[in-house]
Amino acid sequence: MVFPFSSFYRCYFFNMNYTDHKLDVVVLGAGGAGLRAALGCSEQGLKTACVSKVYPTRSHTVAAQGGIGAALANMGEDSWQWHMFDTVKGSDWLGDQDSIEYLCSNAVDSIVELEHYGMPFSRTDDGKIYQRPFGGHMTKNGKGEPASRACAAADRTGHALLHTLYQQSLKNDVDFYNEYFAIDLLKDDNDAICGLLAISIEDGSLHRFIAKMTILATGGYGRIFQSSTSAHICTGDGAGIALRAGLPLSDMEFIQFHPTGIYGVGVLISEAARGEGGILKNNEGTRFMLEYAPNAKDLAARDVISRFISKEISAGRGCGPNKDYINLHLEHLDADMLAKRLPGISESVKAFCGRDISKEPIPVIPTVHYCMGGIPTNFKAEVLKPSDSNTEEVCEGLMAIGEAACASVHGANRLGTNALAELVVFGRGAAIQAGQVIDTKESLRTPSVSQTNSIIERLESIKSNKGDVSVGELRERMQKTVQKRFGVYRESETLKLGNDELASMSQDLKHIKVKDQSDVFNTDLVEALELHNLMQVAGSVGVSAEQRTESRGAHAREDFPDRDDENWLKHTLFWGDVTDYKVTHRPVRMTTLSNQISVIQPQVRVY
Ligand code: FUM
Repeated sequence: MVFPFSSFYRCYFFNMNYTDHKLDVVVLGAGGAGLRAALGCSEQGLKTACVSKVYPTRSHTVAAQGGIGAALANMGEDSWQWHMFDTVKGSDWLGDQDSIEYLCSNAVDSIVELEHYGMPFSRTDDGKIYQRPFGGHMTKNGKGEPASRACAAADRTGHALLHTLYQQSLKNDVDFYNEYFAIDLLKDDNDAICGLLAISIEDGSLHRFIAKMTILATGGYGRIFQSSTSAHICTGDGAGIALRAGLPLSDMEFIQFHPTGIYGVGVLISEAARGEGGILKNNEGTRFMLEYAPNAKDLAARDVISRFISKEISAGRGCGPNKDYINLHLEHLDADMLAKRLPGISESVKAFCGRDISKEPIPVIPTVHYCMGGIPTNFKAEVLKPSDSNTEEVCEGLMAIGEAACASVHGANRLGTNALAELVVFGRGAAIQAGQVIDTKESLRTPSVSQTNSIIERLESIKSNKGDVSVGELRERMQKTVQKRFGVYRESETLKLGNDELASMSQDLKHIKVKDQSDVFNTDLVEALELHNLMQVAGSVGVSAEQRTESRGAHAREDFPDRDDENWLKHTLFWGDVTDYKVTHRPVRMTTLSNQISVIQPQVRVY
C-alpha cells in the first residue's frame, strides 16, 4: 500500500483512525540522548521527528546534577586513555572495550560541541570549563590522584544540557510530537522495523511514525523500585517495546544504587558533594571509607561505597535513632563555595530535611539511581539481535541510545558522569551512523496492516479491560517486591521468591481496570501501559539476577561473593516476558578500535 506524505487511514475494524507521518528518522524520547540524536539527524538534512511522552525539558536528564565526564584536562593532568581505564575498571570488566573507547575518545569533542551550542558551563578563573573530581575517576590508570574530569554547570548540569539541546533542536527544525506515548514498533510484512505507533495523550488520536530509522532513547526503568532517584516517568517503555518486538534485553541484573540519596525521601545528593570535599561518617564519627578504599576514599566507585554503607548500617554503626543511615558531612567546607558550586543540593536538603548543609550533616542511604542494562547495541548504537551463530547480528532500521540502551559502556557498574557523556557521545554517534546508512531517495518500508491492527488491538484490550485491580495498587505491590528482593545484596532464595511473586503479579495485569474511558488526557490509560512495561522489565531484572551466580559490580550475591571470570565474563540476554522467557549470553567485546590503547585485561578491583 502506498501512502501520501501525511496520510490519514481509517481502520474501521477497531473503529480507530490513525495518521501516518513519513520520515527519515523517528527518535523516541526527548532526554539528552534523544535530543542530541534528533539534532544531529536534522543538521544533516534528514527529516526527523522526536516523539516524547513528556514535554522535552521535563525529561529525566533535567535531574542530572554533578557533571559530564570528559578528559579535557582543564584542572590538572588527564587523558582519554585514563578515562577509559577507569571506565573499564568501574564496569568490573563487563563493559565492551570498543564501546568504552568510543565513549572516552569522543567525549572531549562532544563537550566542546556542547560549549559551542551554548551550554552554560561553570568556569574556572581563566574562563575554561570547570571540572571536579568524581567517584572512580583517577589519574595514571588508577595509581595517581583523583582526576578532575566532571565538566559541570554548578550542580544542575543536566538542566543546562537539556535546555541547550532542546533550543538547538528547535533551531534546526526537528519536528516535536510532545506528550505522545509510544505503544509499539511497526513492522513490514517481512518483519523489518519501520517506525512506531503512538497515541497522542492530548486527544487519544493514533499516529504511525513511518521511518527509515527508529531510534529508541526512552531512558531507564528506575521506577520498578519503590525508592529511586529516577523520575516517575522512568518506566522502561523502550525496554518493554523491545521485548514485545522479539528483541532481548542485556545485563538487566545490574542496577546502580547511588550511595547518597536523602534518607527516607530518595532525592539525589550529587556525588559532586564528595567531589568538592564532602565525607561520609558512621555513628562513631569514623570516616569509614578510609579503611575500605585507602586510595580513592569517599570517591571510590558507587557500587563499592553503597556496599560499605550497607555494611556499616548492618553492623549497627548507622546514624539516627534507628541506626539506619549514614551522615554526609559538608560543614567543614567553605560556605561560599557550597553556595556557588552546590546550590541545588543546598536547596534540596533545606526542602526535604530542613537542614543547612553548611551547618549540619545530611542523612543519606544508597538509593536506586541508574540501570546499567538495556537494549543491547554495538558502539554505532545499532541494536543487536544476537543469534547463537552470529553474536553481533544487527536489527536493521533500529538504534538505541542513552539509559534505554546497553552499549555496553558501563558493564556491571557505571561511573558517575559517564551517563551524561554517554547521552551526548552516542546520541551524536547515532546521528552520524543514521546519516551514513539512510538513503533519502529510497522509498519507505510499508508497515503491515495486520501488525498495526494487532498493536491497536492490544491497546484497546488494555483500555477496555473489565477487571477489578487498580493500576496504582498493582504497581505498588510490584515496586515493594522489587525493592525488597532485588536490593544492594542479593541471594538465591530471595531472588527466587521475588521472581515467583512477580510471575504471579503479572497475571493480575489481565485484571487491571482503566477507569477513565475518555480520549482526552487519559493518564489512567498511560499509567496502565507503563505498568505493563514496568512489569516486563522487573521480571527481566529478577530472572537475570537469579541466574548470575557471581558478584560483579552492582550485582552483589551473598551466596556467590566473588567475581568469576572463568564462567561469567559474558553478557546476559533476557528474551520474552516474566512467565515465558529464555536467557542466553554473548561474550564481552575485549577489543579496541584503535592502536592508541590496548585491551585492559581483568584485574582485582580495588580503590
Ligand atoms: O551524583 C551525581 O551527580 C550523579 C551523576 C551521575 O549519575 O552521573
